[in-house]
Amino acid sequence: MRAFAGVLVGAAAAMWVAQPSRAQTSDPPPPWAFPVNPPPERSTGPKPPNRLEHVTGSPLAYTDRQLGDGFFTADWFPGEHPPMPRIVEYGRKPATACTYCHLTSGNGGPAEAALPGLPASYIIEQVKEFQAGRRVAAQPDMESVRGMVVEARQVNDADLAAAARYFSQLRFTSHFHIMETDTVPQTRVGDVSIYVRIPGAGSEPLGARIVEVPNDARQWELGNPHTDFTAYVPQGSIARGEKLVASGDGAAPCRACHGPDLRGMGNVPPLAGRSPSYLARQLYDIQHGTRRGPTVAPMLAEVAQMLPSDRIAIVAYLGSLQP
Ligand code: HEC
Ligand code: HEC
Repeated sequence: MRAFAGVLVGAAAAMWVAQPSRAQTSDPPPPWAFPVNPPPERSTGPKPPNRLEHVTGSPLAYTDRQLGDGFFTADWFPGEHPPMPRIVEYGRKPATACTYCHLTSGNGGPAEAALPGLPASYIIEQVKEFQAGRRVAAQPDMESVRGMVVEARQVNDADLAAAARYFSQLRFTSHFHIMETDTVPQTRVGDVSIYVRIPGAGSEPLGARIVEVPNDARQWELGNPHTDFTAYVPQGSIARGEKLVASGDGAAPCRACHGPDLRGMGNVPPLAGRSPSYLARQLYDIQHGTRRGPTVAPMLAEVAQMLPSDRIAIVAYLGSLQP
């Protein structure tokens, strides 16, 4: 499931027109925020495509073939969401189903964005930004973001409006737990664009990064929208981030635009309780000009002074807030 490499590789790479506005050699795209999958080897042997899979808490079963189908939704918990519009559940060829990456909950994981509760107009606006090439990942090999760029070029306006309406009416619940620590489990990049623990591999120093992993990698792989994530962050980051968010890190306080509770205001998106590595990737992309254009212009002053260590502290704090 969720191994959409074959479908997407190639198309987006050519679109990468990033001219980092202030290319800082000292600040390359942090690999923890831009996971890159190793070349596919997958020597796990042939899988019986009709084997039935289950997830915790659901009586339903789907085959591996269904789970890997971008034009089908394994709807593990059909009682937890309203009826899905066609584009969300099945896609419309060549556009894949939105759930294929964002799940039926709309939450996705650290590689995707949480869509529930975003204003419909913001969802449409951002998909148009991907479409126009004004929003790409600073690390062009990050497969999932390339997938979003391809999707944005393939979805038609009527479907996009239906999807935006659907996701905007869902309720956002955070699945991210923030833990301050010095050491973390050893990880590798799994499918797709996500760090997972290496079973039995022991731990290593965290250093100046954030490591975000699903608590149960198998449930995540099967698309269980109840999967929780732990984001390991350096000691002291949450308190430091709280101060930077309150002050604005040399510019306007974040709450001035993102709302007093950081749950968004008008077309300014929410920040509270969202994935720290997702947020860090956005800050990096905005700072380095790969997410650019008029809609994001109000953010430029905010990131102008932001150091890599500030980014870590800010997103650790934001992720720790319960929306
Ligand atoms: C192939 C996987 C994939 C599919 C299919 C997909 N997305 Fe995404 N989407 C992503 C990823 C990955 C991101 C995060 C991009 C980034 O980090 O900049 C994203 C981000 C977004 C965002 C930005 C949210 C924000 O807070 O700025 C919106 C809006 C969005 N997707 C809407 C959709 C809609 C609507 C559909 C269905 C029509 C869809 N996506 C289908 C992978 C996907
Ligand atoms: C002057 C208004 C303003 C201020 C102040 C501001 N922001 Fe923003 N921010 C925006 C707007 C507008 C967007 C949406 C950009 C777009 O539409 O492309 C945004 C988007 C973002 C995003 C991307 C979210 C997503 O869903 O992809 C992050 C992360 C972010 N801001 C963090 C911050 C932080 C951290 C601060 C404080 C240091 C801050 N912002 C202060 C206006 C502001």
